[in-house]
Parts: sequence; C-alpha cells; structure tokens
Amino acid sequence: MDKISIQQCFQEYFGRAPEILVRAPGRINLIGEHTDYNAGYVLPGAIDKAIWFAASKRTDQALHFYAADLEESFTSENGEVIFQREKTWANYLLGAISEANKDGIHPGGINVVFGSDIPLGAGLSSSAALESGVLFLLNELYQLGLSRMDIVKLAQRGENEFVGMKCGIMDMFASVMGKENHVVRLDCRNLQYDYFPFDAPEVSLVLCDSGVKHALVDSEYNTRRAECEEGVRILQTLDAGIQRLRDVSPEFLALHTSVLPPVVYQRCKYVVEEIHRVKQACEALVRHDMATLGKLMFETHSGLQRDYQVSCPEMDFLVEEARKNSSVLGARMMGGGFGGCTINLVKKEAVPDFIAHMQEAYQENYQRKLKTYPVQLTNGTEVLNG
Ligand code: GLA
Repeated sequence: MDKISIQQCFQEYFGRAPEILVRAPGRINLIGEHTDYNAGYVLPGAIDKAIWFAASKRTDQALHFYAADLEESFTSENGEVIFQREKTWANYLLGAISEANKDGIHPGGINVVFGSDIPLGAGLSSSAALESGVLFLLNELYQLGLSRMDIVKLAQRGENEFVGMKCGIMDMFASVMGKENHVVRLDCRNLQYDYFPFDAPEVSLVLCDSGVKHALVDSEYNTRRAECEEGVRILQTLDAGIQRLRDVSPEFLALHTSVLPPVVYQRCKYVVEEIHRVKQACEALVRHDMATLGKLMFETHSGLQRDYQVSCPEMDFLVEEARKNSSVLGARMMGGGFGGCTINLVKKEAVPDFIAHMQEAYQENYQRKLKTYPVQLTNGTEVLNG
C-alpha cells in the first residue's frame, strides 16, 4: 500500500477523489517494555510501515469505512457507534470516535478507505495506528482543534474502554509523535517527552517476526497489569508515598521481598529494573554507546522471559540465536509478548548475513519461514496531500 494506491482505491470505491490522505505509522520500542502502565519510561519510535487513509467529509452523519486489504466494508448510516462482534477491525475506528463523542466532539460523517503495510499480529501496533489515524483525519477534515496529545489520549481510551484491552499509552503516542531518525523517551507519569537521535551510521534495527500470535495475549496482558497493581497495594502499606511501581526503587524492593507473593514479586522486580534500564539506555544513546544499549536490550529480554513471563519459545530461540552472532549488539522480544517480533540491533554491514542466518535457523528449528523487517524511524501521523 502507498499514497497512490490508496488514492486510487478511494476513487474506485466512492467514485471521486479523496479530500485528504493520512499516513499513520506502526511503532517499534527500543526499550521500556510493560513500563507504560506502571507510570515509567518508554523509548519507542514510529517506523516506515504504516496505515494509509484516504478520506472525505460527508454531508450527513454516516460513517463509511472500507478496509482495502480485507475487501470488507462497515457502515453506520446514522453515525451511531456500536461494538461489532463480527468485524472486529471496525471497533478500533469506532472506539476512537466513541470516546471523542463522549467528550462532546461530534464531527460529521466520513468516507474512509484504508490499507496497510504493517504486518498484522506482529506487535507493531497497527491497532493504535488505526485508532489515532481516524481521529487525526477527522481533526483535519472538521478542524476539531485537537492537539496531537489529545488524539493520543482519546485513542488509548478507545482501546481501553471500547475494545477492552487495558493497554498503556505507548503505542498511540509513538505512532502520533514519532520523529524521523529519532526515538522518543516518554515519561508515562506526566507525559513529558524528549527526542533522542538514533542515527548511528554503523547499526541498523532489524525485526524478526516469529509469526506466533498467542490467543491469550489480551487476558495475560490484563493479568500482568493486575499483578503490578497488587504489588503496589502491598508496598503502599510500607510506604504511603508509593502510588505506582515507578515509585519503587530496586533497593526498596530487595528489602521487602518477603511481603509480596512470589509471582507478584517477580513482576515487580522486572518492572522496577526495566524503568532503570530505560534511563541507562538514554544515557548510552547520548554517548553513542551502542554496545551498552545492546547489552541492556538483552537484559530486558531475560527479564521478560524469566520474571515477567510474557515471552514464548520461538522468541526466546530468536534472541538466543542472535546472541550467538558477534555482529548483533542487542536483541529482545518487543511489545506485549506471547508472540510478535524480536528487535535486533545489528552492525550495518552484517545485516544481510544476519537475516540469512536467522531465516535458516528458524526454518530448521520450527519448519517455518521467518519474516524479517529492517526498519527506519519516521515521522508520526501526517497529512500526505500535495
Ligand atoms: C502493548 C501495549 C503497550 C505496552 C506494551 C508493552 O504493546 O499496547 O501499551 O504496554 O504492550 O510494553
């Protein structure tokens, strides 16, 4: 999918040219996993894989969506937003609009065609791109006056309230706020953010897609959240200043291991350490110290595998295989877990060999073709007209 084909598709489907073209990218996360809903830090960026929207206003209230890749449509003639059991993709669009409506924002009707080159189920946040993308284009078409951050927050509410996935704010933030050749550190407590250049000429980011999608991902995710909250409730009895895991230092946690149920302790330990790692990773980026960044990524993987327990055998295999390769500075599973991609920090000149080796090893071990995606960091959601 690209600008031209989405434009043509709109023309064919609605019989006229669109008023606006919008690109809403997927995201990677360099480090800082499962820290967003614990008021910690994340370090994501938007990538050169995106959902492309072509859209126009309507004179009535109707919402007309056409998902070009699926060749499926969804229509709400009176603009009413009701959860869809069958066409689940529509819920991401409707959820975002529903939350806007709750805030008294009632844009008019729209015709939308969208298509994507974000691999589905790979953990690259196509759902966040859908949610924030539709709000972004409504904001442009109807001049709603929403800031980028308003869009991010509404998109997250749509996913939490309407879709029912209790995700943090990272995915939509990265999709909307990304910047070319930069990652962005977000403090999920106060939503302050800083861009860090990621333009090292000697390294590339390569994603390895395990092709695994665990059916329990949403429920396991919500369970992890609840376990973190339980940890906070218990630790609060020792220090009333603790509101979120962000407020717990590794030293404090080590002193009070015995008050927590073992599993809750493991979850807290991972999160507290990971929040600390993001800070170290940012310092390493400033120093241009890719070796340290890579080492931190490996540590994150171990924590996600052993303590947070959201990895899976396929992703563990991919990380172990990468670890054996001296051209790989760092590797870890990325995103919510239970499948999806690993992210690898690879010496640039070694990328073709790395990909060939990983594909061969994966084929041999799992009799499955490994998809790999070298990624570039791009701007966040943007209008493409002109
Ligand atoms: C998913 C969620 C994010 C974040 C990551 C884990 O992608 O949508 O909010 O919690 O998992 O870091």
